[in-house]
Amino acid sequence: MSTLAARSDYAREILHVYGIVTWVAIGIALVVGVALAWIIVRFRDQPGASRVPAQTRGHTLLEISWTIAPALVLLAIAIPTIQVIFRTQAAPPRDALEITVYGHQWWWEFRYPALQVVTANELHVPAGRPVALTLQGPDVIHSFWVPRLGGKRDVIPGRLNRLTFTAETPGEYRGQCAEFCGVSHANMGMRVIVDAPDAFARWVAAQKTELAEPAGLAAEGKAIFAGRACVGCHTIRGVSSGALGPDLTTFGSRHTLAAGLLPISVDNVAAWLKNPPALKPDAKMPALGLTDEQARAVATYLIGLK
Ligand code: CUA
Repeated sequence: MSTLAARSDYAREILHVYGIVTWVAIGIALVVGVALAWIIVRFRDQPGASRVPAQTRGHTLLEISWTIAPALVLLAIAIPTIQVIFRTQAAPPRDALEITVYGHQWWWEFRYPALQVVTANELHVPAGRPVALTLQGPDVIHSFWVPRLGGKRDVIPGRLNRLTFTAETPGEYRGQCAEFCGVSHANMGMRVIVDAPDAFARWVAAQKTELAEPAGLAAEGKAIFAGRACVGCHTIRGVSSGALGPDLTTFGSRHTLAAGLLPISVDNVAAWLKNPPALKPDAKMPALGLTDEQARAVATYLIGLK
């Protein structure tokens, strides 16, 4: 999660401004440090020196120069900063992939309207193609931040914010909500998976494939899922259409659960199902009173959704 290892045009622009500000600051620190060292040596107490050095008051030239010098420094920083603001806030190019990002307490929802794909907490984007994110949320202010790709951009209820970037290198990039949003703010992580264009097309196709009917333990899990409160909050295409929690239609194709909290495995998913707030404080999903066997059955079902 280093902003110093930029892997998108947006992150490079930010790094560019950061570099300018850093070098300006280093230059000022050197000037001030050298001047301070010289003054300490030159005006140190010496035998026979007068106790009070010469006093200067109301020196117009000095007053003007130390007002103008910082203003010039701020101007030098402001020009490239404003240029980058305009470059990174420009309208997205026409071929950009539109994605709507919803920040929820405490997970991320990603909708691809043109592709009719919905996912959560793991955002897939194609390398080399601009993605135009529209950010919004139903509850409190969050902030989308994937240090190597883009952000921070606030997610504000009742307002549409935008963020456009082009990821350069396939790989997995970690992100994090960067605005305090409640008890589990720190647990509001995400992954951005940058795919090569053909791998992205395969991922999209896999997200839309009809789900195979589960068998054995997974079939038991599906029956439990369908008969419990799960359906009130979660969508699984063809099974339920709840909208409060993450869409689970292709849950098994993700690598992590609960907004990047744990790797996906039967043990972890079963532990989550038994008592979500124990793993993620204040999680909106309540403990459902499942037995160990029931939790394992539902976990097996969910992991098979891919
Ligand atoms: Cu969402 Cu912090």
